[in-house]
Amino acid sequence: MKRLLPRLLPRIMGILACAVFMLNTADAAPSKSAEEMATGQKCVKCHMDETPGLVSEWKKSAHAGKDVDCLDCHKAQAGEKGAYLHHKVTIHTIVTPKDCAACHEKEVAQQQRSHHAKAGDILNSLDNLMGEVIGGPQAVNAGCRQCHGSNVEVDAKGMPTPLTWPNTGIGRHNLDGSRGSCSSCHARHRFSAAQARQPDTCGRCHLGPDHPQKEIYEESKHGILFKSFEKEMNMESKHWVVGRDYSAAPTCATCHMGATREQAVTHDVGERISWTLRPAVSSKLNMVRLESGDEFDQPANQPLPKIGDEVKGSKVKSILTWEQRRDKMKDVCSACHTDRQVLGHYKQFDDVVDLYNDKFAKPLSSMMGELVKGGYITAAPFDDKIEWTWWEIWHHQGRRARHGAAMMGPDYTWWNGIYVVAQDTYFKWIPEMREVVRKKDGNEKFADELLAKYFKPIDGHDWYFNGLSKDAIEKVRKGYEERYGKGALK
Ligand code: HEC
Ligand code: HEC
Ligand code: HEC
Ligand code: HEC
Ligand code: HEC
Ligand code: HEC
Ligand code: HEC
Ligand code: HEC
Repeated sequence: MKRLLPRLLPRIMGILACAVFMLNTADAAPSKSAEEMATGQKCVKCHMDETPGLVSEWKKSAHAGKDVDCLDCHKAQAGEKGAYLHHKVTIHTIVTPKDCAACHEKEVAQQQRSHHAKAGDILNSLDNLMGEVIGGPQAVNAGCRQCHGSNVEVDAKGMPTPLTWPNTGIGRHNLDGSRGSCSSCHARHRFSAAQARQPDTCGRCHLGPDHPQKEIYEESKHGILFKSFEKEMNMESKHWVVGRDYSAAPTCATCHMGATREQAVTHDVGERISWTLRPAVSSKLNMVRLESGDEFDQPANQPLPKIGDEVKGSKVKSILTWEQRRDKMKDVCSACHTDRQVLGHYKQFDDVVDLYNDKFAKPLSSMMGELVKGGYITAAPFDDKIEWTWWEIWHHQGRRARHGAAMMGPDYTWWNGIYVVAQDTYFKWIPEMREVVRKKDGNEKFADELLAKYFKPIDGHDWYFNGLSKDAIEKVRKGYEERYGKGALK
């Protein structure tokens, strides 16, 4: 016995360590029958010949190491929509969050309640009208829906149809009622956390003229630091707590999803944002969580339901105010910055959103309403030039300004942002507004009335009505002469 214990001890310790490890990590490692294991091996073996690239990637994944094989994700019930018999086994091609939930329940619950899971609901949007009618449905399929998600359909054999798949849109409508596709961030068949932490993963969708988060990040100090010190980012680490496992820079995933000393990883990407910067006029958002597991945003200027109230076929479970959402983000910053830097940032950001809202978006939006009411333009969107101008002011230039200020991209805040908002307002929108009024009334009286009512009371538009003041011009002239010599400003 004395000689046995030293030999057994390491084994016992090993088993204990293993148990603790499993509790700590996978939500559920698969417990499978020998038959299931054998079937899974058959898939691997034949597919090593048929699709070797696919199998090689799976072999490198965390899944292969834990005996999670083809069958675990692709198995299906006979009769289920999208199921078919494949070499005597009932499987489906489409693998949804519901399939992953067997082992990753927490991540799936967070993802299902988030805005990401709702991104396929774009049918009733202005953007969709523009895409389907003014562009064309073919471009919606290969464009919009690759980011937002298709409505997956299958043919009589259970195979996904070419018009609706391939697709890994973030809010894909699946046959089993679940939303989204986990491989929109975790590309198959590696299903890697490290790859999802890369800014490029988010940048597949979050880029371009109307939401250039990727470009903004790249021009921010955070993005520059990421590029400079990527090797020190410890991207492959199992635990990835900012300030502890890495400190060189935050990525998109750090700020919006990542673990901190206080918070766990979240797949609910809206949890840490306090504004919506997407609509024509921005508002702060409280988040209402329901007992059904779903959640929705309630603008801060609208009354909040109380805990226990019946809402949307469920009951209110908890509320996250916009301040609490912001505190969650500030907690991320606090790994690397002190309060003063963070508060300063939020002050500068809030000020830009207020400027955009109050000086431009609210009055322009009211005047667009008046033009429709007065019969100067039709109620149908996009059939008058001025509607395109207004659309681009808020949907493109105005968003860029707000996103730039949110994520430290000064060029987007100004040259790609407020500068273009101002230029389009004064030198496109106002002349076009005068023109539609003149066309109907034969004069510009109503145009002058609108501007007097909506723009004149706002200090920031004073220069438009009264010209640049002598003082302002004198100040600029002096500054120029100090820098470039006498007579520099004509
Ligand atoms: C004896 C060989 C063999 C076995 C065993 C096998 N497959 Fe396949 N599988 C194929 C071939 C061949 C294709 C078609 C490849 C192609 O189109 O290039 C295919 C296609 C697929 C597809 C895509 C279906 C389609 O037509 O679009 C999936 C998903 C799939 N296999 C999963 C599995 C799973 C899961 C298992 C194990 C339960 C499995 N396969 C077992 C040979 C096999
Ligand atoms: C962790 C879950 C998971 C595992 C394990 C897994 N798959 Fe998949 N597989 C997926 C997902 C997700 C998709 C994407 C389908 C979709 O769009 O819903 C997919 C797609 C596929 C496709 C069609 C896509 C293509 O590019 O042609 C085939 C074939 C396939 N898997 C075969 C396999 C085989 C063979 C194995 C085992 C070596 C395997 N899968 C293991 C989740 C998994
Ligand atoms: C049968 C159980 C099972 C299923 C089904 C499953 N997983 Fe996993 N998953 C695991 C296990 C086990 C691990 C390894 C955990 C560990 O190493 O601690 C893992 C790890 C992961 C990781 C972390 C990888 C890394 O780089 O550390 C990701 C991401 C992941 N799974 C995504 C998915 C997605 C997406 C699906 C569905 C398409 C899915 N899983 C389906 C069991 C499963
Ligand atoms: C490159 C990927 C991509 C394409 C293509 C794309 N979108 Fe988007 N869309 C996004 C992203 C990312 C957001 C979120 C932007 C943000 O939060 O700033 C978004 C936001 C939206 C919103 C606002 C949602 C809300 O909750 O306010 C609508 C509506 C929308 N898109 C519809 C469309 C339509 C319709 C098309 C095609 C005509 C389209 N999008 C093309 C990625 C894309
Ligand atoms: C918007 C991109 C995105 C989507 C969509 C996404 N993930 Fe993740 N996932 C990540 C990122 C980023 C990480 C790494 C988080 C970290 O460690 O900082 C991660 C990590 C994980 C992990 C490792 C454990 C952990 O919490 O770190 C699992 C498991 C996982 N995801 C499962 C899923 C499943 C299942 C789905 C589909 C319901 C999914 N993910 C969808 C981005 C995404
Ligand atoms: C240093 C932290 C940080 C990094 C890095 C970061 N963000 Fe953000 N992001 C923010 C903050 C702060 C906001 C504004 C939050 C608020 O509303 O209070 C924001 C807002 C957003 C929004 C909401 C925009 C809207 O229209 O309402 C999206 C989408 C977003 N970020 C995506 C990204 C993507 C994609 C990346 C990487 C390319 C990224 N973020 C990198 C901090 C960050
Ligand atoms: C496949 C496309 C796609 C990918 C990849 C993607 N997103 Fe998104 N994201 C969207 C779309 C579309 C929306 C707008 C959804 C809506 O409101 O309908 C969105 C919205 C958001 C929001 C706003 C959430 C809210 O509650 O308003 C944040 C923050 C965000 N994404 C962060 C990220 C981060 C971080 C990553 C990478 C880890 C990422 N996204 C990857 C398409 C994507
Ligand atoms: C992983 C560490 C880390 C995190 C997390 C982080 N930052 Fe930074 N941030 C830095 C570093 C390093 C710099 C560069 C400082 C310098 O030299 O100016 C920086 C720069 C900045 C700047 C200054 C930009 C400039 O050009 O002067 C602001 C503002 C800022 N961060 C705000 C934030 C906010 C707000 C958050 C949270 C939403 C945040 N940061 C999260 C590390 C971080």
